[in-house]
Amino acid sequence: MHRVARIDGDGIGPEIIDAGVTVLDAAGERFNFDIDWVNFDIGSERYLRTGELLTEEDITGLETCDSIYFGALGDDRVKPGIIEKGILLALRFHFDQYINLRPIKLLDGVTTPLANKKPEDIDFLVVRENTEDFYVGIGSRFTGSEKTSLEVIRNLYSIKFGIDVESDATEVAYQIGLITREGAERVINYAFDRAQERDKSCTSVDKANVLSDIYGLWREVFTSVAGRYPDVKTDFTFVDAVTMWFVKNPEWFDVVVTPNMFGDIITDLGAMIQGGLGLAPGGNINPDGISMFEPIHGSAPKYKGMNIANPLATIWAGALLLENIGEKEAADAVLKGIESSILAGHVTKDMGGSQSTSSVGDWIAKQIRTGA
Ligand code: IPM
Ligand code: MN
Repeated sequence: MHRVARIDGDGIGPEIIDAGVTVLDAAGERFNFDIDWVNFDIGSERYLRTGELLTEEDITGLETCDSIYFGALGDDRVKPGIIEKGILLALRFHFDQYINLRPIKLLDGVTTPLANKKPEDIDFLVVRENTEDFYVGIGSRFTGSEKTSLEVIRNLYSIKFGIDVESDATEVAYQIGLITREGAERVINYAFDRAQERDKSCTSVDKANVLSDIYGLWREVFTSVAGRYPDVKTDFTFVDAVTMWFVKNPEWFDVVVTPNMFGDIITDLGAMIQGGLGLAPGGNINPDGISMFEPIHGSAPKYKGMNIANPLATIWAGALLLENIGEKEAADAVLKGIESSILAGHVTKDMGGSQSTSSVGDWIAKQIRTGA
């Protein structure tokens, strides 16, 4: 028995998680395990009702689970940032889910916008660091008082140049990016482990030429970890360049490891080359703790309740969840089910089909149950 939390969240969240749960339960039936689903009412609705983002009760409840299945967050009635930071990022940080695993894989039958690229050309993993970098939330913004702004600017300049600088700035803001040797090392280790099981190639994506303190440390750690994996081929790419290579030569990549913010950006690009956000899953992983699996797309409030959203990213995230809790065979069957729904054209409108969210879930569940 696996105890799995479900956080449906906002917008299309409940519908896509319903479809995912149907599929994962079917996988359990076929491979002889049960999932005990535990519902958590976390999201914008509750926030609007009670002002609560994540309560202590939520956290203690989640801590009793083996894994978390997460829908989507975001609601037009809440100012951007509040829910994302107060719930999604708070969960990633609380459970120290330091790996954000995002497979970029073009499935058979899916159309990629890249001309002449086939499934064998687009098949890599992005391992995004998930708890450091510019996501640590250390920053400040000074408005109004010119005196305060000026003092901050002076302090920052004197840290940088050791001189007192006059400035005309009336407002100032800064944000700190933070990388620790330990934080970089654990995620880079994970990336090399994955590379070793795959095609034995690992690429660091950074910007060490300009942001040389923060990503200089990142590169140094990457190099020292690489020393322990002599059979893995390594490479460095700057983040601006990698956006070209993902488009021009995606076949070059096997495992890509990158700090948090660059990982956020390049995985949206990755999602597009594998057929769109409707097909992009992600896992927030703590190998020694509780991990959380989600589609990387948002809550699409305008489609809420219409039963038309594409559930495949969520179902694929469910496959990552199953793999994470030790049900590898079931995970493979789920991915195979996704592939057959695509090949059969049993997909939602965004993928050229005419099926509803629930009917895609039901169809894949049936395939899995019958071992097709
Ligand atoms: C993602 C999202 C989040 C992120 C937002 C919603 C906080 O864009 O999971 O990629 O920036 O990590
Ligand atoms: Mn993102």
